[in-house]
Amino acid sequence: MSAMESQLADDELAASGGAEISDGFISLIDMEELQGPRRSEIVQQIGHACQHYGFFLVKNHGISETNMNNILGTTSKFFKLPEQEKLKFCTNDPNKSIKLFMGFKDEIQNVFVARESLRFSTYPFEDYVNEWPANPPSLRKDVMEYCTSVKRVEFALLEAMSESLGLEKDYLDKMLYNHGQKISMNYYPICQEQDLEFTRGVRHHTDPTIITILLQDNVPGFKVLNNGKWVDVGHIPNTLVIHVGDLLQVISNYRYKSLHHQVFINCERERVSVASYCYPSSDTTIGPAMELIDNDHPAIYRNFTYTEFYEEMWRAVVQHATDKRLDTFKSSVA
Ligand SMILES: [Fe+2]
Repeated sequence: MSAMESQLADDELAASGGAEISDGFISLIDMEELQGPRRSEIVQQIGHACQHYGFFLVKNHGISETNMNNILGTTSKFFKLPEQEKLKFCTNDPNKSIKLFMGFKDEIQNVFVARESLRFSTYPFEDYVNEWPANPPSLRKDVMEYCTSVKRVEFALLEAMSESLGLEKDYLDKMLYNHGQKISMNYYPICQEQDLEFTRGVRHHTDPTIITILLQDNVPGFKVLNNGKWVDVGHIPNTLVIHVGDLLQVISNYRYKSLHHQVFINCERERVSVASYCYPSSDTTIGPAMELIDNDHPAIYRNFTYTEFYEEMWRAVVQHATDKRLDTFKSSVA
């Protein structure tokens, strides 16, 4: 049992009423409560977590344990395939809808970044399913089932987040009309002890998304930045981690903060996770919601299209400056 799991013993969870637990910065939101009389209270708790911590956990989200185990199992099986089978998905073309990323040496920071990930577009399924790996044979079915369920979670959270900003319930959904979905199936190998100091799972970054929904297995390593300190987010069975992404930071006019996070690996157990990315269609205009701009809160960012953002994102990757990619979009008064 991880440190966090022990903190969150069942009686504590029950007593928490579904939020603001642990040492004050990790909120566990009971999504079932969004359907009941406590909705407005839960919406407030989501807003508080997005504003102060950039993330929260959800339980009772409606994705079955079998469904979650299947997608994690499929992820593990994919990365155990022979090298030549996986390398079919390696490409430098940023316009490809499916890409395999392998571990690499970061010469600037002098660390080996060990994560391998398969990132691909999933929604709408009919546009992409034939590009997904046919091996392992379970992959397409497991991805489709998981992504269908995740889409429901995403929709419910976008509604709650819109409300938490004082916007119409369908604000984010309407604004992101035709919004897409990508997933990243991630594999973190075991590290040799002598290499541990100079190896990372994934380096410190924020996500270029509206929100990210992260499913992790029970191997520790995921850390978030809180008050200038890196803190472990342990594993609580059947929960998901919800991150605020860069684009929600923009839409909320910097009220909500994009989550800084990283992953460490260990010498004993390999780790897998599945991240689901909610992002807009290419022609969507992104900018602070008008309702959140006034004399006391001038627009921090200018309006831009997702295509502009996507190009800037790749430029930032090449220049090793992903933490600065939103600077280009700051408004002149900010
Ligand atoms: Fe990330």
